[in-house]
Amino acid sequence: MATAFADVLGCPVCHGRLRAAEHGSLPCAACGARYPVTDGLADLVPLDSGQVETPNIRIMESRVLARVYERAWRPVLTRLLTGMSHDAERAWSLDRLDPAPDATVLDLACGPGNTTRSIATAVPAGRVLGIDFSTAMLREALASARDAGATVGYVRGDAHFLPLQPGSVDAANCAGAFYLFSDPPRVLAGVAAALRPGGRFTLMASQQPRLGGATTAALMRPSGLRIYARGEMEGILDGAGFDVLDRRPAGFMLLLAARRR
Ligand SMILES: C[S@@+](CC[C@H](N)C(=O)[O-])C[C@H]1O[C@@H](n2cnc3c(N)ncnc32)[C@H](O)[C@@H]1O
Ligand SMILES: [Zn+2]
Repeated sequence: MATAFADVLGCPVCHGRLRAAEHGSLPCAACGARYPVTDGLADLVPLDSGQVETPNIRIMESRVLARVYERAWRPVLTRLLTGMSHDAERAWSLDRLDPAPDATVLDLACGPGNTTRSIATAVPAGRVLGIDFSTAMLREALASARDAGATVGYVRGDAHFLPLQPGSVDAANCAGAFYLFSDPPRVLAGVAAALRPGGRFTLMASQQPRLGGATTAALMRPSGLRIYARGEMEGILDGAGFDVLDRRPAGFMLLLAARRR
């Protein structure tokens, strides 16, 4: 897998190229850090990332959640939080991501690969790389990728330390994960660095509803779940070097399409 993405995957610390696997690990050609590969899954989270040790992230490590996520959890929550079906939400993003058939696409915080595989259908001569922090989710993703024979690969990574070479991806997507990130501007700066200039980025993030939004966000804050103020995500995107192309408010969520300047 790492070979198929040799020009894309990079060291999460220095973003240098990774050399071919040696003795069960991928060495960084630039700084010498080594990243383990276990049962076909490369673990590209830096040892001292320290960004994601929150209870919400630990829930995502649950094998039970990973097993039911795609068939039950995601469709039901999407309908409740957005009023849209998961299919309609994915179609909105994919239409605006509009990758060339041979594009290299990043699906950040890919979970069990539900969106990764739908992106793969749009790039039959390209590649989709799914990155997620949860090994349980990634094991589900790998199993489905084998079944579908899709042009996808998965690695474990932290969105705050993207294991990618600069300018190595043509387009990127991140659905349903921004409410979990501890440092959203840092994540977006990393996505901008990994995208080539002009590359598209689609995302679905939480957004405060018009009525009682600030109160809802304040009530959620102790849980560690972030509900963005109206316009906040557009501001962070702009600060990270993106132009917003399109937006679709949907209940407690906001779908956005942007382009790296
Ligand atoms: C609700 S799921 C979304 C999965 C998928 N993108 C979708 O649209 O259904 C959120 C995912 O974000 C991942 N995640 C949370 N924090 C992360 C981080 N810092 N780096 C990478 N993945 C992270 C979780 O492991 C989980 O799989
Ligand atoms: Zn390095």
